[in-house]
Amino acid sequence: MIKVKNICCIGAGYVGGPTMAVIAKHCPNIQVNVVDINHERIAQWNDKDLSNLPIFEPGLEYIIKECRGLNLHFSTDMEQKIKNADLIFISVNTPTKVKGVGAGQAIDLKYVEESSRQISKFAKGFTIVVEKSTLPVKTAQTIKEILETSLKTKSLENENNSFSVLSNPEFLAEGSAISDLENPDRILIGGEDKEAINALIDIYLNWVDKAKVLTTDLWSSELSKLIANAFLAQRISSINTISALCEATGAQIKDVSKAVGMDRRIGKYFLNSGPGFGGSCFKKDISNLVYICNYYNLFEVANYWQKVLDINIWQQKRFVKLIINKMFGTISGKRIAILGFAFKADTNDTRESPAIYICKKLIEEGALLNIYDPKVSQTQIAKDLTISEMDIDDPNEQKWLYSESVYDTVIDTDAAIFLTEWNEFENLNWEIISQSMRQPSWVFDTRSIVDIQKVKESGLNIWQVGYGYQLN
Ligand code: NAD
Ligand code: UGA
Repeated sequence: MIKVKNICCIGAGYVGGPTMAVIAKHCPNIQVNVVDINHERIAQWNDKDLSNLPIFEPGLEYIIKECRGLNLHFSTDMEQKIKNADLIFISVNTPTKVKGVGAGQAIDLKYVEESSRQISKFAKGFTIVVEKSTLPVKTAQTIKEILETSLKTKSLENENNSFSVLSNPEFLAEGSAISDLENPDRILIGGEDKEAINALIDIYLNWVDKAKVLTTDLWSSELSKLIANAFLAQRISSINTISALCEATGAQIKDVSKAVGMDRRIGKYFLNSGPGFGGSCFKKDISNLVYICNYYNLFEVANYWQKVLDINIWQQKRFVKLIINKMFGTISGKRIAILGFAFKADTNDTRESPAIYICKKLIEEGALLNIYDPKVSQTQIAKDLTISEMDIDDPNEQKWLYSESVYDTVIDTDAAIFLTEWNEFENLNWEIISQSMRQPSWVFDTRSIVDIQKVKESGLNIWQVGYGYQLN
């Protein structure tokens, strides 16, 4: 039985960091090293001040405090950490290709390939290589080929080297990463090498029930991860289409979601309508699914999944139009408060956040924005809102301002748009807000989080996603 004593994780991001922290917490006898080419990110992971960790995840800082320096280490020394490892997780980013064949749809595997080359160069002895990143089906073959090519040219350096490649996709969601990792629905492991599979299972059994471990072949494991994301995203697009129907007919999306979700066969999760799904994965993974289906000439299947993406952007466009219509057909020169910029609550991540598209469109229409998010920095918002000079009449004019609190954000604004469902937005003092805003003013709640009655009583106009009573 192989006993893993030393783990290396390549990629210290939203997956690598929290996942390795939880492994280190539950496996005190295993040394866990997280490596990254990004020096700044590694310095943040090593920062004494835990509020400077590169990612915000509830519960993460306690584990870092407990394990960092004992059996959890963050480093840029790839060579040494790979050399010492019995098991290596590849947890690097897998973005959509921006140029070349498959641009806009296929996954760019350059970071995965680069990691495989580094492993082939530095690994010593028998090494289990585990795909943690979400990858197109059959990527394990590419990794194997890179690793095996390095063994073909035998030298004293590599004569005892050998590799086993496994797939072990990660299902955590940002904002609940630690609880998802502590209590996963399943641990999926794909591969052929029973000994390597058992060594990986052995790590998880330190805190996960054996009944939750599912083993499959490599390709089924890789594909299951893509399909799980596609099904989740599909539910969001489905409920978002119905939010528009509720608004048109007078039905209430919250009631419809509840009634539909109470059917055990359907289930209550992922039925919240909103401004469309964001995050680094749903769009890229479904685009990749569409690409793979087209590649295998399954055009109807590809078109079916493409619709899930189309509806997502349609919902965002619909909101922008609706906001402009309600504000007397123009927002030019009007100041609008943006509440929430992260793609969901409890994370500082803004990748593919609906807020980016919506804010850019509002700015294009001439609006001036005050933006507040409890965890997203001004620098990050500035990066996300970089608007090409062609789209701006006067590039020197400040199109948006950063605010430090909800109450500062709404001062002298004509509208407030809720884009992220942060807890603190649920219990606001609407009297204060109403007095700070210019009248007549609007509240647009794209996340169904504010109390409609209280907003109305404070004298503000309200529109809420899927809220059919607003028919007029
Ligand atoms: P991320 O961008 O936050 O982190 C990836 C890290 O890998 C970066 O810090 C980057 O510098 C590093 N990296 C890239 N190439 C490297 C190399 N050759 N050597 C060393 N480091 C390298 O990405 P993420 O959100 O952690 O996602 C990683 C993978 O996990 C993706 O495939 C994603 O689809 C998947 N995934 C993400 C989530 C999520 O919630 N973010 C959940 C499940 C699965
Ligand atoms: C998602 C999946 O939930 C994870 O299982 C998966 O591991 C991960 O992608 C990944 O592969 O990266 P994540 O994107 O972090 O996790 O967060 P989700 O909770 O899935 O939310 C995604 C987006 O959908 C957010 O913008 C969220 O606001 C939106 N959403 C979610 C809705 O609009 N309605 C819902 O009912 C649920």
